[in-house]
Amino acid sequence: MKFYVLTIFPEMVETMLRTSILGRAEKNGILEFDVRNIRDYSLDKHKKTDDYPYGGGAGMVMTPQPVFDAHQAIVREEGHPVRTIYLTPAAKVFTQKDAKAFAKEEELILLCGHYEGVDQRVLDAIVTDYVSIGDYVVTGGEIAAGVVVDAISRMVPGVLTNESSAEEESFEGGLLEYPQYTRPEIWNDVKVPEILLSGDHAKVDAWRKEQSLLRTREIRPDLLKKEAPPSHGE
Ligand code: ADE
Repeated sequence: MKFYVLTIFPEMVETMLRTSILGRAEKNGILEFDVRNIRDYSLDKHKKTDDYPYGGGAGMVMTPQPVFDAHQAIVREEGHPVRTIYLTPAAKVFTQKDAKAFAKEEELILLCGHYEGVDQRVLDAIVTDYVSIGDYVVTGGEIAAGVVVDAISRMVPGVLTNESSAEEESFEGGLLEYPQYTRPEIWNDVKVPEILLSGDHAKVDAWRKEQSLLRTREIRPDLLKKEAPPSHGE
């Protein structure tokens, strides 16, 4: 799977994507990252990428030309339309389900906004999906793009070497992950739950499922409501 990222801070994105598990996946040829500096596409003599907002107000707005030309260059190289994500808090919140759906694409383009945003006309022209990472504001789309690319990447077969770790973790089956323990058996006067030492896999599985349910009910009861089957006649 190939990810293109359009940004005015390429170093920030490169560091996130070329380290750790995603970096390994790129070396192994499973993922490919193409991070492009929007500034390189600016036709302005000072390579400007932003300007004052029409109608006034604080901050600057990213101009349409460099963003559009950078996007066009990629689409031209690919030879077909590419699903294009704009990272913004003014969007539906990204979920694990979205990560899995995006992981089915061959290529994705992520556009990172800055300042007060990007001229709406270029967004209307190129964006297919508006994505927020949560109900808070971060300083730029780069951090959000890192989160979204990471969550999608780990759903691409071969990226996680221990495949089962993607199946048993939080949100799989709509529940939070059960608690984990490792050596030593007693730490800080606290013993590992007896059942995990029993060697009885069926009992361990049942205990973990129960812990997942209890945790979810306690911390995120909204997830249980989402998973409930549709009720009829109410
Ligand atoms: N840019 C700033 N805040 C963001 C958010 N919550 N999600 C996506 N992009 C953003």
